[in-house]
Amino acid sequence: MKKTILELKDIAKYFPGIKALDNVDFTIRTGEVHALIGENGAGKSTLVKIMTGVYQPTKGKILMEGSEVHFGTAHDAQAAGVAAIHQEASMFTELTVTENIFMGHHLRKKGGTLDWKAMRQHTQELLDRLELDINPDTLIKNLGTAQRHMVEIAKALSVDAQLVIMDEPTSALSLHEVEELYKIIRQLKDEGKAIVFISHKFDEIFEICDYFTVFRDGQYIGEGEVATSSVDEIVKMMVGRSLGHMFPKKEAAIGEAVLDVKGLSLPGFFKNVSFTLHKGEILGFFGLVGAGRSEVMRTIFGIDKKSEGTIVLNGHEIHISSPRLAMQRGIAYVPEDRQEQGAILEMSLSHNITLPQIDKISPFGVLNKKTEKTITEEFGNKMEIKAANWKVNANTLSGGNQQKVVLAKWLATDPDILILDEPTKGIDVATKAAVHEFVSEMAAAGLAVILVSSELPEVLGMADRIVVMHEGHVSKVLNRDEANSDNVILAATGHEEGM
Ligand SMILES: Nc1ncnc2c1ncn2[C@@H]1O[C@H](COP(=O)(O)OP(=O)(O)OP(=O)(O)O)[C@@H](O)[C@H]1O
Ligand SMILES: [Mg+2]
Repeated sequence: MKKTILELKDIAKYFPGIKALDNVDFTIRTGEVHALIGENGAGKSTLVKIMTGVYQPTKGKILMEGSEVHFGTAHDAQAAGVAAIHQEASMFTELTVTENIFMGHHLRKKGGTLDWKAMRQHTQELLDRLELDINPDTLIKNLGTAQRHMVEIAKALSVDAQLVIMDEPTSALSLHEVEELYKIIRQLKDEGKAIVFISHKFDEIFEICDYFTVFRDGQYIGEGEVATSSVDEIVKMMVGRSLGHMFPKKEAAIGEAVLDVKGLSLPGFFKNVSFTLHKGEILGFFGLVGAGRSEVMRTIFGIDKKSEGTIVLNGHEIHISSPRLAMQRGIAYVPEDRQEQGAILEMSLSHNITLPQIDKISPFGVLNKKTEKTITEEFGNKMEIKAANWKVNANTLSGGNQQKVVLAKWLATDPDILILDEPTKGIDVATKAAVHEFVSEMAAAGLAVILVSSELPEVLGMADRIVVMHEGHVSKVLNRDEANSDNVILAATGHEEGM
């Protein structure tokens, strides 16, 4: 029997200049996976923060099993049995896995002293349950992004929660880890817990969710059973209209080679990587998480140092030892991780967007505010960034909108070669189509684009050629007309080799 566990009634949350949520009703039942769906900035994470005591609502009330509750702090919500995996990482990197997992709800011995032995053992059990090969004593800073994310998941499970809220939990996970997460979600559901699941990926929503609620611009739009709904119906509720083509690839004339990479190696990451990129071309890079694609791009952009191989730009061999040099050569790189390498969260949007061009817009060391504004408006609007104004700090934006700031910043540099690493990760379906259209237009105008993506439809839909990587080397290169999901997946999983 499903029963209502948490009810939000007429909730509003206002920030300066923005109604993040208004008149929102939301009901969560036990034994159900409930998808919370909406565009970037729709108010999903804000609602999560209200349900977990991180934010106080401006208006409205929360009922838990029928009685009104007030979550004044995150601790209150946790004590009431609400656990969450937040969209933005919240780990203490200098502490161990165990210390992080039990932060805020330490286990104690009878006398009151902390029981580290029990906490360590519990941590080990949680890690085993998630099939993670991580030592409980490892410091978080020594873990990769995906592993950190799995530890966040373990932390949420460590609280014996009735309701587990997951805000875009899969965005940093590999396919295998996503499968593990699904297993856990199904287990929780069988145990009669309630789960709220947020994702911009419809395949995930249709795989794991039973029910959905859609928000748009901070307002409740509608809800329904996943099994009896279609992607088109849900998209229409999200966006308020039907969407055009997701992958509006323009046929562009492929020009001369601009970048020729030969035998590039970085021990431990990739080996003997060779490919050629042409003017007007979109060259897709597909592979499983960890295949070495990002490391290759970081090396070309001068962040990591190659140990072997040559990089030829417009017919001349170059040695790029820093991102600054790469930028001077006309290369732009949109990194995968917006939190660590992307937007500077404590800085305004206009500063963020114009940062790579700071020398250009500050003749004689004085910032030309007008130029700054023009650039910000042009590219901010192109990327459909949703913000109160261009002066607010990047950390007041929703996760997806922060990602758009990073895109706008690099597109504004007007590069010859644009390297995009998972450019639409965390970006909603409508903006995704807009990004695809924009990239396609820029390629048609002569830009050479490298598109690294773990989303197969994106690579198949947008790329002229696809370089498939497997465990650090190029396993196959396929032309647009010969590539399909079967041969690309085979090459990415190491089952088919050859050029
Ligand atoms: N601390 C804050 N200060 C000011 N505005 C904020 C703050 N947090 C969120 N907002 C605003 O509230 C709105 C809703 O943001 P929220 O993060 O809830 O969106 P979201 O639905 O989670 O989007 P995404 O899919 O991009 O993660 C946005 O317009 C955002 O800019
Ligand atoms: Mg969010």
